[in-house]
Amino acid sequence: MSRILITSAIPYINGIKHLGNLVGSQLPSDVYARYARARGHEVMHICATDEHGTPAELAAAKAGKPVAEYCAEMWAIQRDLAEGFGLAWDHFGRSSSQRNHALTQHFAGKLAEAGLIEEVTEKQVYSHTDGRFLPDRYIEGTCPNCGYDGARGDQCENCTKQLDPTDLINPRSAISGSTDLEVRETKHLYLRQSALAGDLEAWIDSKKDWPILTTSIARKWLKDGDGLQDRGITRDLDWGIPVKRGSEDWPGMEGKVFYVWFDAPIEYIAATAEWADANGLQDADWQRWWRTDKGAEEVKYVQFMGKDNVPFHTLSFPATIIGSGEPWKLVDYIKSFNYLNYQGGQFSTSKGRGVFMDQALEILSADYWRWWLLSNAPENNDAEFTWEVFQQGANKDLADVLGNFVSRITKFCRSKFGEAVPTGGTYGEAEEAVIADLQIRLATYEAHMESIEIRKAAAELRAIWVAGNEYLQSAAPWAVFKENPEQAAAITRFALNLAALYATLSEPFIPFASATLREALGSGAKWPESIAETANALPEGHPFTVPENLFTKITDEQREEWEERFAGTR
Ligand code: 2FM
Ligand code: ZN
Repeated sequence: MSRILITSAIPYINGIKHLGNLVGSQLPSDVYARYARARGHEVMHICATDEHGTPAELAAAKAGKPVAEYCAEMWAIQRDLAEGFGLAWDHFGRSSSQRNHALTQHFAGKLAEAGLIEEVTEKQVYSHTDGRFLPDRYIEGTCPNCGYDGARGDQCENCTKQLDPTDLINPRSAISGSTDLEVRETKHLYLRQSALAGDLEAWIDSKKDWPILTTSIARKWLKDGDGLQDRGITRDLDWGIPVKRGSEDWPGMEGKVFYVWFDAPIEYIAATAEWADANGLQDADWQRWWRTDKGAEEVKYVQFMGKDNVPFHTLSFPATIIGSGEPWKLVDYIKSFNYLNYQGGQFSTSKGRGVFMDQALEILSADYWRWWLLSNAPENNDAEFTWEVFQQGANKDLADVLGNFVSRITKFCRSKFGEAVPTGGTYGEAEEAVIADLQIRLATYEAHMESIEIRKAAAELRAIWVAGNEYLQSAAPWAVFKENPEQAAAITRFALNLAALYATLSEPFIPFASATLREALGSGAKWPESIAETANALPEGHPFTVPENLFTKITDEQREEWEERFAGTR
C-alpha cells in the first residue's frame, strides 16, 4: 500500500463546464483515484474552483452580481454537478480561500527572499473607453503565433501559446470591444523563471516515463524562441489575492493582486489544508501530503489536466515550488489530454457550444457519460463527440454487453432457481477456460490502470464484460436446464459470480451502476486477487435480487431530439 496524491486541474469559476472540460481532467482523475482506493492505497483526491482573474470578473459582471457572491454560488453549482457525475473528491476547495491567500503570499515572500522576484515597470494596455487597464482576458486580438483572431491577452486557445496583452495584433477590449487603447506604464512583479530554466530542464529530462504530450509541450516552451521567459505574477485588478510578502505589505504593490495562474496551482496545496480544516484535523495531517520534511517523501503525486494547462504545471508551478527553497512536494507524474471536439467543431464555453455538465445529467444518468467519455478519452489525439457514435458506443457496451449479461443471468436464475445463488453441480472446462482468460485480462486491466492509459483500460474492461456474455451464450443454462439442472445450477452460479466481479472491476468507470449491482447481488467491493477465488465469492444459497435494468438503450428518437436540441449555442 502506498500514498497517492491526485489533483485535477481546477476549473474556472466562470460557468458550468462542458463535457470536453470534464474528460480532460476531472473524469480521468476520478477513475484513477477510485482505482487506487480500490487497490487499498491511501488516496488524497483534490479539486477546487479557480476563482480569480479576468474570467471570474467578466462572468460576474455579465451575471450582474458582485464577484464574491457570484463565485460562492458557482462553486456550489460546480460542487453539486461534480457529485452528480460521481466525482469523488476528498475535498473540493476554492482558490479564494483564506488558506490560499496565506499560502500564495507565503510563496511570494519566499521567492522574493531567494532573489527570484523582480519589480518591473512595464507597459500595459489601458482602455480609455473602459477607464482601466486590460490585463489577460480583458483584451482580445489576433495571435502573433498562429493568426487565430480570438486569442486572449493571456493565452491563445488555438495554439496554446502563452501571451502578454501587448503581443496581440489588432487588440480590442473584451469589455466594450473598444480599440481606443493606449499602452501605459505600471509596476509589476515578475517571477524570474529564466533563472530556474536549468533546474526545470533537468527535472523534465528526468521524467522518462511521462506521456509524450506532457514532455513535448514542456520542452517546446523551454527551448523554443527565447527559452523560458520571466513571468508577470501580479495584475491591476480588484478581485484576487492582495500582493504581500508573507504577511508583510509590499511597498509599491498596493491595490494589486496576484495573477490567477500564480495562485491557482497553489490551491492544490491550500485545498488539502482546507480539507484538514473541514475535518477538524491538524496542519500535520495535510502537510504529510505536501511537505517532504513531514512525510510526503513517500507520496506519489499525480496531476491530471488538459494540454493547454501543461506549461503552467511543468514550468510555472514547479518554478514556484523549486524557487521557494522549501521542501514542498513536486509532481511525480503529469497525465495530460488533448481536446474533445463536438460534432465537427470545438466545444466552447464562451460560445456555449456543445453539451454542458448540467444538460448532460438532465438527459441521461452519469454512467453513460462517464463510460463513453472515458472509453473515448482524447489521450493520443483529439477525439470527436458525435451523437451517433455516442449512441452506438453506449448502447453496445453498456446495454448490449454488460446490461444484457446481468439482466439475463439474474432473471434466468430467479425464474428457475429463485433469488438465491443455486446449489449443486461443479465448474468444468468451460468455466476453467473463462477463469484462465480473465486472470490474464485482469492483469492487463490493472497494468493499464497503473500506467493511466484510460482508453486501453476501458477496452480491457469491455473485453472482460464480453467474455462473460460469450460464456453465457455458449454455456446456455436455459438449454442445459431441461436435461441437467445440476449443471445449469453451476453455470448460473458461475455467471452470477462474474456479475459480482464486474461490479467491482467496473466501479472506477461506472460507479453508480456498480453500486446498484453490488447492492442487488449483496456482493462486496474487495478487489479480486485471483479470479478462481472470486468465482466462488457468492456462495451457494446466497440471496440476491434482480437489479433494475442497469442500462436502457438510447433510442434513435432520443438521439435525433438531442442532436437538434444541442445543435446551436446555449
Ligand atoms: O484551464 C483551466 O480551467 C484553469 N482554471 C486550470 C487551472 S489548474 C491549476 F493550476 F490550478
Ligand atoms: Zn495562436
